Amino acid sequence: MDLRQVNADDDRPKNHTGRLLENARRELGLSLEEAARRTGIPAGILEALEKDASHPSGAFHSRVFLRNYADSLGLDGRAFSRQKTEGRIEETPSQSPPSQDVPPQNVSTQEVPPRDVASPNGQPPVMVEARGVYKSYGAEEFVVHALEDVSLRIGKGSLVAVMGPSGCGKTTLLNVLSGLDEIDRGEIFVAGEPLHTMNDARRTGYRARHMGFVFQGFNLMPVLSAVENVELPLLVSGAGVAVARKRALEVLDQVRLTDRAHHRPNQLSGGQQQRVAMARALAGEPAIVWADEPTGNLDSDTSQEVLDLLLRLNRENGQTFVVVTHDPDVGELMDRIVRMEDGRILSQAGESGETEA
Ligand SMILES: Nc1ncnc2c1ncn2[C@@H]1O[C@H](COP(=O)(O)OP(=O)(O)OP(=O)(O)O)[C@@H](O)[C@H]1O
Ligand SMILES: [Mg+2]
Repeated sequence: MDLRQVNADDDRPKNHTGRLLENARRELGLSLEEAARRTGIPAGILEALEKDASHPSGAFHSRVFLRNYADSLGLDGRAFSRQKTEGRIEETPSQSPPSQDVPPQNVSTQEVPPRDVASPNGQPPVMVEARGVYKSYGAEEFVVHALEDVSLRIGKGSLVAVMGPSGCGKTTLLNVLSGLDEIDRGEIFVAGEPLHTMNDARRTGYRARHMGFVFQGFNLMPVLSAVENVELPLLVSGAGVAVARKRALEVLDQVRLTDRAHHRPNQLSGGQQQRVAMARALAGEPAIVWADEPTGNLDSDTSQEVLDLLLRLNRENGQTFVVVTHDPDVGELMDRIVRMEDGRILSQAGESGETEA
């Protein structure tokens, strides 16, 4: 079988490409989350892709997409294509290790959209709330207490910086607040929805619908142009081709990259690539954007570019931004700084009514 024929073969099951993608991931022993980290495609979207990659645009049947996807996973894309040609992966699904992230077939992924949760004391509605959260890694003498008794409230539409020394738990905090990681103890509510009681499938769906991620590890797909990178998650979420393209161009315009829409990542500067990643995170109009060191690898001019964008989007769209940063100048621009040390929150200064802990 040749991948070039996949699109044309109408008698083939519709989820054929999705099955190839899932089998490749399982052969590598990757969870959905890990595959998401490697490919830059949010886990919820990857899951949708694996279930049904039969979008009428044919975008996900193309040889370029499959090779590129495999490259991002860390496979040799060309060899991956050859494996498909020989039907090897397709014929050996039973040998694949079970993935922890594949939800049971009958689990509903329906959930309530974010809503305003009234806050006490006339504060803005609460978007994210953590109560007594503990998270550790490892076991016995090797246990690392990454988060200890963390409680925090993030108002809707606020800009929050998370700061502290390396290893203090900033990334862990983002991962648990966004539901990427499970917690050991405590409660996490996002727009009033208890994330800690949701199963994997619901959390994944919730993230895909309401959250955007700008993590350094979330690479752009090198063979796709800027606009194709931005529209990819929209297409997978079921948007029509024309609608997805229109929206992708709109967001690229918001990040001032209209004139670079058809450039590939390697034809863009670091700051421009980061802005494309931001556009991709924002394309689905998420209520919350999580950014881990969004300016970490950028020089001061390009990091200013990215920051200006973030501040403008917060003002214009009222989206909530939670930004991990080492840069005090970045922290100063936010409404509020959450300072961490050794897995604990030291202080949450900045927002009116907040008190130093
Ligand atoms: N998957 C893991 N397994 C074991 N320990 C981990 C894991 N992830 C993080 N840790 C540990 O948990 C602690 C907090 O890590 P985290 O990545 O949250 O730190 P951070 O504040 O983001 O640091 P940095 O500024 O260097 O990115 C560290 O001691 C780290 O070694
Ligand atoms: Mg980190």
